[in-house]
Parts: sequence; C-alpha cells; structure tokens
Amino acid sequence: MQLKRTLSFCTLFLAGALTILQAQDGIGGVWRIHIARPDGSTHDVFLNLVQSGSSVTGDVIENYGHRKIIEGSFVEGKLHAAIHPWREVVVTYEGQLTDGKLNLTISHKNTPTGKASVTKATAERSTEEATLPPAKLPVPALHDVPENNLVRTPQMGWNSWNHFAGRVTDATIRATADRIVASGMKAAGYIYVNIDDTWESGRDANGNIVPNKKFPDMKALADYVHSKGLKIGIYSSPGPFTCGGYEGSYGHEEQDAKSYAAWGIDYLKYDWCSAGTIYQDSDMRAVYQKMGDALQASGRPIVFSLCQYGKEDVWTWGSKVGGNSWRTTGDIADNWKSLEEIGFSQAKIAEYVQPGHWNDPDMLEVGNGGMTDDEYRVHMTLWTLLSAPLLAGNDLDKMPDATLKILTNPDLIAIDQDPAVHHPKRTVLEGNTEVWAREMQDGSMVVALFNRDSQAKPVTAEWSKLGVTAASSKARNLWTHKDVTLSGDSYTATVPKHGVVLLQVGKG
Ligand code: GLA
Repeated sequence: MQLKRTLSFCTLFLAGALTILQAQDGIGGVWRIHIARPDGSTHDVFLNLVQSGSSVTGDVIENYGHRKIIEGSFVEGKLHAAIHPWREVVVTYEGQLTDGKLNLTISHKNTPTGKASVTKATAERSTEEATLPPAKLPVPALHDVPENNLVRTPQMGWNSWNHFAGRVTDATIRATADRIVASGMKAAGYIYVNIDDTWESGRDANGNIVPNKKFPDMKALADYVHSKGLKIGIYSSPGPFTCGGYEGSYGHEEQDAKSYAAWGIDYLKYDWCSAGTIYQDSDMRAVYQKMGDALQASGRPIVFSLCQYGKEDVWTWGSKVGGNSWRTTGDIADNWKSLEEIGFSQAKIAEYVQPGHWNDPDMLEVGNGGMTDDEYRVHMTLWTLLSAPLLAGNDLDKMPDATLKILTNPDLIAIDQDPAVHHPKRTVLEGNTEVWAREMQDGSMVVALFNRDSQAKPVTAEWSKLGVTAASSKARNLWTHKDVTLSGDSYTATVPKHGVVLLQVGKG
C-alpha cells in the first residue's frame, strides 16, 4: 500500500486556492504526469517546481527517487527543466502551459546505448505532494539460506532486456524459445529464457501480482517454454517499483514467490532499483535474504539472480542469501567503452566464484550491432574466462551466422562451464595489452592475448610467468580452430585492435 500524505479539508481548500493563483501567475507548485502505458500499466512522475522570475528550480520525483533540476526556466509560458539522473544521461521536460495544463515533451539524451528517446505527456497541477515512499518494513535477522543446488556451472540462456527492453511480449519469448532450439543454441547449453522488466501490471484485490496485457497468460507461456525443453525466468525488485517504474515485490515477497512457482517460473532476477529509496545499503543483505527464503519456501527450484550493481561487496555474501549469481557492476551497454570498463575490471574478484554462486558482470551484448565481431570475441573470451553467466541479449530472429558462431563456440563454452572453476590470472603488459591465463580441469591452460589498443599490436605470452610448462607442446587457437606450433619460452601474436588471440596449451 502506498502511504500518501493526507491533507486536511482546510489545507485542501487552501491548496486549491493557491493552485488557481499559481495557474494565473506562473509555473510554481506540484505537477503530476500520469502516464498510461499501452500495456495497461500506469506510471506517475511529479514535477515539484519553484519559480523565481524566469528561473525554475525544484525536483522531479519518479519511483520515489528525487532528482534536482539542474537547469530550469519559464519564459513566455514555456517550461524547460533538465535533470541528470545517472551517468551522463540528461532528461529534459519541455512544454507549453496552455489552459492550466503543461503539454510536455520528455527527452532522454546521452543514454549508454546512444539511443535518445522522446515521449509526449501532459502534466496537471496536483493538490497532493508527490507520493511518498511507504514506511520501511522491518528487515529479518541474518542467517544462511540453505543451498538450492542449482546452476553448478554458470547459467546459460537469454534475457530480453539488452535488445527488447520495454518491447518484450509473450510473442517475443515464444519466438526466442523457438529460435534457441532451431539455431542450435539449446544444444550448445543455452537453456534459460528470461523475461526482464516491463511485464508487470499491478496487484489484484488479494495483492497477487498481475502481468500486463503483453503477457496474457504467464502459466501458458511457461508451459510453452518448458515444452521446448527450456526453462523460463522472470524479473522483479525488492522495492515498490522496478527500475522501469513497474510494480515491484515490496511487502509481497512471499506472495510473489508463490505466484512465480504456480506459473512454473525457474529463475528470478531481483533488481534493487526503488528499494534504495526505502532501505539503507546496509539492509541489502537482509532484504535479499527475505526473497531467498521466499523462493525456497515456494516449493519450486528457482535460480536466484541478484542485481544490485556490485554494491556492498555482494560477492562476499551473495551465496549466503541463496544467491546463485550477483551483478558485480552497473549496466552494460553495447559499445567498446562499456565492455572494456566492465570486462577488464573483474579479475580481482574472480576468486569469489564457486559452483552454484557466480559473479555476474551483466548480460551479453554479442550481436546487438554496437561492436565489431573482434570486440564481441573479446566480450565472450572475458566472460568465459571469468566463469560468468552467459545470457545472450540479441534478437535471435535476425542473428547473423558470425554472431551464432561467437555465442556457440564450443571451446569457449567449455571454458565457462569447466567444473574445476579455476580462476583466471591477469597480467597487464605495456602498450594497452594484457595476457590472461586459466587452468582447465584437464590440466591444460587457456591463454588469452588481448589488445585494447586502437591499432593492431604484437602481444607476447611468456610461459614461465603463466605457469605453462609444456611450452613445446601443441596448442590450439580457439577462435580460428587451427593448431599452433609452439617453440621457445614465449609466444607472440599480432592481435587486431580491440581483439584477442585465445590459445589452449597442453590439451590431450
Ligand atoms: C536495471 C538492470 C538492467 C535491467 C533494467 C530494467 O537497470 O541493471 O539489467 O534489468 O534495470 O529496468
């Protein structure tokens, strides 16, 4: 239940009178943008505006998060207000005040994907202040959630967010399940088909979570995915809202876990989002534990994927709350800068992974079009060396053969899924190049020569530094599938810009 600030009759009367005065005089006051989405769900944004001459200050409140207006003006009936919600993103609210209503254009610029978005909306004066976050529920005492014995090797599958974002529907999930089977991805190990944010509508009279119009029958959808020999995942937040402003699980954790189990859901991604407006970061472990317990009590084996962007050193406690994986970073985007920032910063926490409990540097962008195939090979190489979950995020209906080959390279998948779970060692060389090595269960060594530079470069692996003793033995290049003859105590390859040469030394 949302707690709203109640106003007495008298205050309401005064607020009404003030509203009329403000409407005549300017833009100051509280404005509510009520967004009715085509999927049947709704979403409110509040503009809390303070006018002084032609200058406008105040804040924008969305999903209970307050963002200061960094630049605002009101000139000749026209509002301009900008906020800076995260990273370089800037959101502007621009529009004309006409007959007491603000006809707005809301634009998102500098998004990590590079895609600008523009939405039209109408704002009306609100007699209430912005909806306040509900009171904080008590958090449980800490304990260790029992092992669920799932994903003993990193989970593999597909997730809707990176390509489809808010456009995911029942039809997308069915078509993706079909393509995973037909393309050979299922045979390669990709099993989970995961619905990310934007499937929720609201709650029924009994508080049960209800999907929106895009997902008319969740149980039938789960049955369909299961009929293909695959598993299905879903998404929620411990806060009242998801990151997309949809209904979260706040105060309904056990009830939601039961709904997921009744539908036949096999996987939950649980995203912090608006929980940050209610809880402290130090409550995070207890809050995740609550859902970990709820999933176990649901009676169905459900993989638990934590998404809280690596806060609170989650790798030190994620397994204790029943987490099968935990995000270690902010969101990935389909460009080299993002991939490089995330992928090359993970080796220092690689030692925290163990069977059933994985570091998750975010989902794959392979095939989404923002990077070259060389860059996507770096992506796949880093993720497999790190034993990361492999969740493809591209449109499988429009997948070029080169993308399929990168995603299903059996030698790379064998590294990711190697049951010994040895950790990679990273050596940073001069000139923006690196060598990583990881031992495999069979005693062989995989050695990756990375070139982060913007031109081709020679990169040298020195066997003595990597613990490779069989330097004169055969090696195989795992991306070209060609044998390589080694001699001497090092190996040098010219690696393309933003590229990798990956060898397996001493196998069989
Ligand atoms: C956050 C997560 C993303 C995705 C979106 C959905 O940003 O980190 O992976 O789930 O929310 O809104």
